[in-house]
Amino acid sequence: MARERQTALITGASGGIGHELALVFAEHGFDLALVARRQAELEVLAEHCRRDHGVGADVLAMDLLAPDAPGLLVQRVEEADLHIDVLVNNAGLLDMGRFAEIDVTRHERLLQLNVVVLASLTRRLLPAMIDRGHGRILNVASTSSFQPVPSLALYAASKAFVLSFSESLSEELKGTGVTVTALCPGVTRTDMYERTQDEHESAAMVPGIFVSEVGDVAREGYEACVSGRAVVVPGLPNRLVASAVQLYPRWLVRSIGGLVGRRST
Ligand SMILES: NC(=O)c1ccc[n+]([C@@H]2O[C@H](COP(=O)([O-])OP(=O)(O)OC[C@H]3O[C@@H](n4cnc5c(N)ncnc54)[C@H](OP(=O)(O)O)[C@@H]3O)[C@@H](O)[C@H]2O)c1
Repeated sequence: MARERQTALITGASGGIGHELALVFAEHGFDLALVARRQAELEVLAEHCRRDHGVGADVLAMDLLAPDAPGLLVQRVEEADLHIDVLVNNAGLLDMGRFAEIDVTRHERLLQLNVVVLASLTRRLLPAMIDRGHGRILNVASTSSFQPVPSLALYAASKAFVLSFSESLSEELKGTGVTVTALCPGVTRTDMYERTQDEHESAAMVPGIFVSEVGDVAREGYEACVSGRAVVVPGLPNRLVASAVQLYPRWLVRSIGGLVGRRST
């Protein structure tokens, strides 16, 4: 029997962009599978979505940095008999500062979550989407995907991976019914933004015109995902900068980034 509703699995749904994306998917009638470590926050969100939007919501609380987390998550998805139509790879970490001064285990955790877990979940959930002839993958990248960012060296490199990986897959999957979208927000008001501001004065220097509200980012991400667009940069100011960066020579973009980055660290 055909399923009535589609299911979106969202990582990092306990706060920030992932939380808002969950609300937008629920508003549009998607059932949800919610993933993050903070179970209480996920339960509150799930209950809200069931009550206000009449959708199903499963809470799959887990640490995606635990050994073999992607495999265990997919096992739990199968045990709950969920069929994932939309995978939202949103959970991510950011560390600001000089690369050589940040603890090596923090670097390893960032790469694991932003890169390895994202690729592994995609590989594990994609074949069923291809078999069904329908699916959507929404990978949360960043405007830092478009250029090197001294002071965010590893973070920007991890987001460049997400953009490149998403664009490659979106072409590879043409004709399968599955689309891949890279959502590239600029600075967005979330806990990640607040933490970075608290820890680094320079992060507070981003002009307000470039700071997005989380609801706007989620809505633009949702629209791009369901319509199958390959890349979306929410907000006109961020779109203009992301486009300009691609027009200028790489040495110039790198040098300007270096000037700003060295001042901020
Ligand atoms: N905010 C920005 O300015 C901005 C800009 C561009 C791109 N982004 C990207 O957008 C995505 C979401 O960022 P955000 O600003 O919403 O961040 P956030 O407010 O810090 O939320 C991060 C989410 O990831 C989850 N998470 C973190 N570590 C996890 C782990 N080990 N296992 C499972 N879940 C984990 C957190 O949940 P728990 O703590 O409950 O586990 C939380 O739900 C990230 O990929 C980020 O790089 C953010």
